[in-house]
Order: sequence, then structure tokens, then C-alpha cells
Amino acid sequence: MKIVIEQDYQKMSDRAAAIIARQVICKPDSVLGFATGSTPVGTYNKLAHMNKEGLVDFSKVTTFNLDEYAGLDENDQNSYRYFMNQNLFDHINIDKENTHVPKGNLDNLNEVCAQYEQAIANSGGIDLQLLGIGHNGHIGFNEPGASLDSLTHVVDLSSRTIEANARFFESAEKVPRQAISMGIKTIMKSKQIILLCSGKDKSDAIYEALFGDITQQVPASILQLHPNITFIIDKDAAEKICAKGLDK
Ligand code: PGA
Repeated sequence: MKIVIEQDYQKMSDRAAAIIARQVICKPDSVLGFATGSTPVGTYNKLAHMNKEGLVDFSKVTTFNLDEYAGLDENDQNSYRYFMNQNLFDHINIDKENTHVPKGNLDNLNEVCAQYEQAIANSGGIDLQLLGIGHNGHIGFNEPGASLDSLTHVVDLSSRTIEANARFFESAEKVPRQAISMGIKTIMKSKQIILLCSGKDKSDAIYEALFGDITQQVPASILQLHPNITFIIDKDAAEKICAKGLDK
């Protein structure tokens, strides 16, 4: 487990983009796992810039996103498919056919989940998964109490997550109550993981994930057991880690 503390959000984003670019340069047909939320936006901007500069070529890359809201059409501005197109896919030379976001608007979501898990396996598995972390320690939409053994599945969102994501909707009532999410086991099967964490409001969550007990109550804590994970944390988010010391 590697912990990198960067001065600010931009440096955190640049560091993550450099690791992703290196992965794609070394293996042009890499399978990348992507995340949504405000944290990875800087990383996506940097990757788009590097692509424009000719530094990294996404033409052979395949991607799988972590999650998607249930019930939203992919043209809905709050869907994660829309987010990925806007923030990354429309700005790089990736073949959209090779980008995968769970389809949350179909009827049989359990079937969608099983097919998604199978598609990841058929691709050879995820080479590098990018993650954020929720205030409650969630990864993807794996909320506190989620099984550490789960594959892609339908989840009920916690009130804390609904509240946190309400900023993107007209009101908290408009936030979907369910989502499809890769499971914790799906995430743990990734060959390499980068987790990004930014801002003072995440200081407790990242501290618990890194140094707390491994528990279902803090889903990100399982990542302590991943053999190839890098946590890239900005100085604000590292406040508690720095106060307590890295060896605690
Ligand atoms: P955020 O979300 O990047 O918008 O803070 C992260 C998450 O909930 O995983």
C-alpha cells in the first residue's frame, strides 16, 4: 500500500493522470476502471490534455465505470454515462463502443449486473481502477454494511450519500434511491487501484480507511488488503493523517 500526499487538488490530479497515462503507454489495450464524482474531474481534464498533446493514445483502451443510478436514461444530465461523456470520453480518442457504464434504465437490473460482471471478466479484468471515497467510507456505491464479497449488484443508497449527491439535482427528493454498483469483490479483483481523496471534509474518512479496522462499516478499509494500491491524497484531506502520524 502506497500513500502519496500532494500539496493540492491539481497536483493530486496530475499525479493520478500520470499513473493512468503510464499504464496506457505500457499497455495500449489496457482495461481501465473509472469513477464519477467531483474528485476525478481534474484527472480527466489532465488526461484529455495529454491526449490532445499526443502523449497518450486511448484508441485501444476499454473502460468500465464503477456505478450508475437506477432509472436514469443515459442522456439524463445526472446519469454517470452523461458525466463520463462530458468530462472525458468526448475529449479523448477512445472508441465509445469500448466504454461501459452499467445501464440503469433497463427493466431487469439484476440481469444487467450479471452481464456487466461477465463483460469485465471477458475483457481480461481491470488493469487499473480509479476510485474516490465517500464521507461514510463508501467506494462505488458500496455503502457501510455492504458485503465485502459482493460482485456487481443493485444497491439502496444511504441517506448520507443521497444528501451528498443532492447538489447535482434540483433537490434531495430527485436523487434516485437505488443504483447499480460494482461490488467490493469486483473492485478488489482489479490488478491495480488508485484512490483519490481531496478536501478537509474527507479527512476522517480517509484516515479510517487507511488506519482503522478492516470492517464492513467502512467499505474502503478492505483496500488495505489490496496488493497494488496507491492512495493519492491532497494536503487538506491528509490533515488527520498528518496530525496522527503515518505510522499510526
Ligand atoms: P466526490 O464523491 O468525488 O463527489 O466527493 C466521491 C464518492 O462518493 O465516491
